[in-house]
Amino acid sequence: MSKYFIWTIGCQMNKAESLRIASYLDFLGYQVASSLREADLVVLNTCVVRQSAEDKVLGTLGLLKGLKREHPNLSILVTGCFVDSNIEGLKRRFPQVDFFFKPGAYPELTNWTQLQGIYSAFSTQHSALRWKSPSPCAFVPIIQGCNKFCSYCIVPYRRGREVSRPLEEVICEVKGLVKQGVREVTLLGQNVDSYGHDLPEHPDLADLLTELNNIDDLARIRFLTNHPRDMSRMLIEAMASLDKVCQHLELPIQSGDDDILKAMRRGYTVEQYRKLIHAIRYHIPQISLSTDIIVGFPGETEEQFEHTYSLLEEMRFDVVHVAAYSPRPGTIAGRKYEDNVPPEVKRKRLNKVEQLQANIAAELNSAYQGKTVEVLVEDEKKGKWYGRTRSDKLVFFENKDDCTGQLVKIRIEKTSPWALQGKLDIIAN
Ligand code: SAH
Ligand code: SF4
Ligand code: F3S
Repeated sequence: MSKYFIWTIGCQMNKAESLRIASYLDFLGYQVASSLREADLVVLNTCVVRQSAEDKVLGTLGLLKGLKREHPNLSILVTGCFVDSNIEGLKRRFPQVDFFFKPGAYPELTNWTQLQGIYSAFSTQHSALRWKSPSPCAFVPIIQGCNKFCSYCIVPYRRGREVSRPLEEVICEVKGLVKQGVREVTLLGQNVDSYGHDLPEHPDLADLLTELNNIDDLARIRFLTNHPRDMSRMLIEAMASLDKVCQHLELPIQSGDDDILKAMRRGYTVEQYRKLIHAIRYHIPQISLSTDIIVGFPGETEEQFEHTYSLLEEMRFDVVHVAAYSPRPGTIAGRKYEDNVPPEVKRKRLNKVEQLQANIAAELNSAYQGKTVEVLVEDEKKGKWYGRTRSDKLVFFENKDDCTGQLVKIRIEKTSPWALQGKLDIIAN
């Protein structure tokens, strides 16, 4: 029996798409290989958001070149954001690859398998196709692409313009997942606040959440990523009123300096972002917040970096994803601005943000000490069960029985900046 291996890096969208591809390959009769070396078919699902990600892809392509020499029958497929519009150019540069297809271009994947004589259409409506969701928590893409064109970002060039999935299709998929045992869904998009504007009846994210909230046996709903310019008051109110929607938001600010935000073309000021956070915290006091920061954007002075630093001190986010600016070819910043913040300065700023955030997260998480929280159990790791609270805190605990997929109450005994640990109180259901 032929075996496949899917190598994935990048964001949740890629992880969701890899699960879809895995479901399709399972459906075609392939088996999962435990490593690249054991596979007859390898799919690379790639990311190029920063040069470091692209370097990983190039490294793996190099490794596969060697493997293909040893096993000429090995099929290599490449998808994800490494695949640009110049597929002919990619084929010339990487002759070891059998097939390139753009993210989400499943009809092309179907064509390829058809050419190999293993045909079955890849369709989201396929009744026999069961989405592979190994955990009780599933990712569900609701909008592809991005129309924002932030100056530093390559995503719109690789993922294309926004295309929303019809409301009924998403609802149908979530119902199907719930039937398979899924209890929590995370709706995905580069900008989930844009959901629906391109659909005939213009439903929005609040409409979708309202519909999903009615699905019996679905316990929790999350979504990411929001855009500070587009997040509406109506969405905040919907979040506050719908009982299944979790109290967690990913709301990237990127910089705490207005001039840098302008050069990034983010479309909001620090003050507008601050007001938005105040409105969210007013309506949903238990909200936990994550953000993204880029340090060392072209021309970022020490003073401008300090504006970001003090904003983080003021906002006290639960999680901060911080990255050093990496020029991306073809983007506006890549063309227009010189990457003139030295690498050691970027590293220093990055470390400074990480240190600050570790202290803030340690303080915020220590407030959980002695409290009892509800956790949806996802899986087991190194002899401990783990899952997340509604506020997206990772919680570990011990239990002799398998409790995957159950909502449990855990009394927190130990906290750190990254996770909580506790004792099982009760299994709720
Ligand atoms: N749509 C989301 C995130 C997209 S990419 C948003 O609007 O924020 C994920 C994160 O990668 C971004 O939030 C940003 O912090 C980071 N990123 C994107 N391009 C980058 C670049 N050229 N250099 C460094 N970090 C980058
Ligand atoms: Fe990139 Fe900006 Fe779109 Fe996010 S909103 S994907 S950062 S262009
Ligand atoms: Fe990477 Fe593409 Fe996601 S560049 S972050 S895989 S949208």
